[in-house]
Amino acid sequence: MNSKLIAPSILAADFANLQRDIEMVNKSEADWFHIDIMDGVFVPNISFGMPVLKAISKHAKKTIDVHLMIVDPDRYIKTFADLGSNVLTVHYEACTHLHRTLQAIKAEGMQAGVALNPHTNINVLEDTINDIDLVCLMSVNPGFGGQSFIENTFNKVKQLKELITRKNAATKIEIDGGVTNKNAKQLVDVGADVLVAGSYVFGSSNPIETIKDLKAIVNS
Ligand code: DX5
Ligand code: ZN
Repeated sequence: MNSKLIAPSILAADFANLQRDIEMVNKSEADWFHIDIMDGVFVPNISFGMPVLKAISKHAKKTIDVHLMIVDPDRYIKTFADLGSNVLTVHYEACTHLHRTLQAIKAEGMQAGVALNPHTNINVLEDTINDIDLVCLMSVNPGFGGQSFIENTFNKVKQLKELITRKNAATKIEIDGGVTNKNAKQLVDVGADVLVAGSYVFGSSNPIETIKDLKAIVNS
């Protein structure tokens, strides 16, 4: 059953050949486009913003999964909906009123995601899990592609899966950072539903084949 999803992270694409890389993802077996928005405040890096997302949306033919690594994300919820985002993920650590933020995302017709930094315990989602469509577990410290996977993520996936089951929630689990063919199978085995992969896909000599291999691994 092909139920586990692969989401190439456009942060690792070649921005001088962005259309080519988007078409590659369109043609591949990938399921989602993962789009990292960084503001230089919440994370120590700036990626790209609205004009680039607008250009991506014009060509992307698959679900657009936007990961906001920004402070005060409420200010931009409507803007990201208008730019074509299908899933909008905010950081738990950046939201003073998470419940209100989740409602605002859904009111714009998007799926609502919450990302947790590696230091943030799963139990902070105890009271909101039934309102969350996707939890993005950061398996690196957010801000940069190409970092090494943090092994404690496996424990966090198990704890999150237990919470989702106990609360009878329909929440998907996404893993973001350092995903490769070495950890993909173990991640889905402990409960992950969506794997983000940036440098592993775009740094490979044949990204289409790399995506195909990842897809086969996670659905084997
Ligand atoms: C990190 C970003 C990730 C990143 C993943 O802050 O949220 O989505 O692009 O890149 P890799 O797969 O290279 O770790
Ligand atoms: Zn991301």
